[in-house]
Amino acid sequence: PDRYAVIGHPVDHSKSPEIHAAFAHQTGQKLIYERLPAAPGAFKTTAAAFFADGGAGLNVTLPFKGDAAAYANRLTDRARRAGAVNTLARGDDGTLLGDNTDGIGLVRDLEHRLDIPIAGRRILILGAGGAVRGVIPVLLEYGADAVCIANRTLSKADTIARDFADLGNIQTCALTTSANGWDIVINAISAGLAGEMPNLSPAILENTHGAYDMVYADQPTPFLRWVADHGIERRCDGFGMLVEQAAESFMVWRGVRPQTAEVIAALRPGSD
Ligand code: ATR
Repeated sequence: PDRYAVIGHPVDHSKSPEIHAAFAHQTGQKLIYERLPAAPGAFKTTAAAFFADGGAGLNVTLPFKGDAAAYANRLTDRARRAGAVNTLARGDDGTLLGDNTDGIGLVRDLEHRLDIPIAGRRILILGAGGAVRGVIPVLLEYGADAVCIANRTLSKADTIARDFADLGNIQTCALTTSANGWDIVINAISAGLAGEMPNLSPAILENTHGAYDMVYADQPTPFLRWVADHGIERRCDGFGMLVEQAAESFMVWRGVRPQTAEVIAALRPGSD
């Protein structure tokens, strides 16, 4: 069977092997999917050895998404835009295609689980890191009316806005903004991981239909607890985005799109 793996540092807690095993089982595809740890600085040698040994594809996670973009022979438009690759696929001629399925993963999860179509929406994103760079082009491609990036370091938000200005209406503001009227508020601040959120103005949630945290955990995240306290009923964490980006990678590799809902339900942290 074809061999796939997730490469990163660290990868021992990655859920990708379980997710892809569930997809393979569901679709009747025969494949092997493993974890491939690589020391910082060793992405290229580790990936090269994997493909030389017959590997068919890699998922790429932190901190190697930029290295993977440089390593690929060809990039999809969405990967080039993001400057980051989370999916490498070996073609029949041996060349490597680099793709980025993070943005489409977010859009699918917003539409499926949060039940809010993106077209025409005004979206506030908190944070301006690598993850935001990956998703903004796709939000605009799917017809978001406006995206505002709120970040502690405003210059980082401004740089992203400038880089993607040709794709649509992108604004920036301070993290302490009280601007409102956002249909969807998305958290992409990694501080959420450590269990703390910076002080945000509850005013940003006025007239908001749903809130999304790109982070996930087996407990409600600090951001989702905060929005719940302010009366936002439609809330989702990023576990669905993880499964959706994996489904899109599976599609790139195997040409088959798995059903995600049952896999999200079965593998969600805290579900067993
Ligand atoms: P990722 O790849 O997950 O996006 P990243 O590139 O390290 O991670 O970006 C982290 C984001 O979280 C940034 O927007 C960062 O804000 P700055 O650009 O101002 O550094 C934000 N962040 C991290 N810790 C934060 C904190 N304590 N308060 C506010 N924002 C924080």
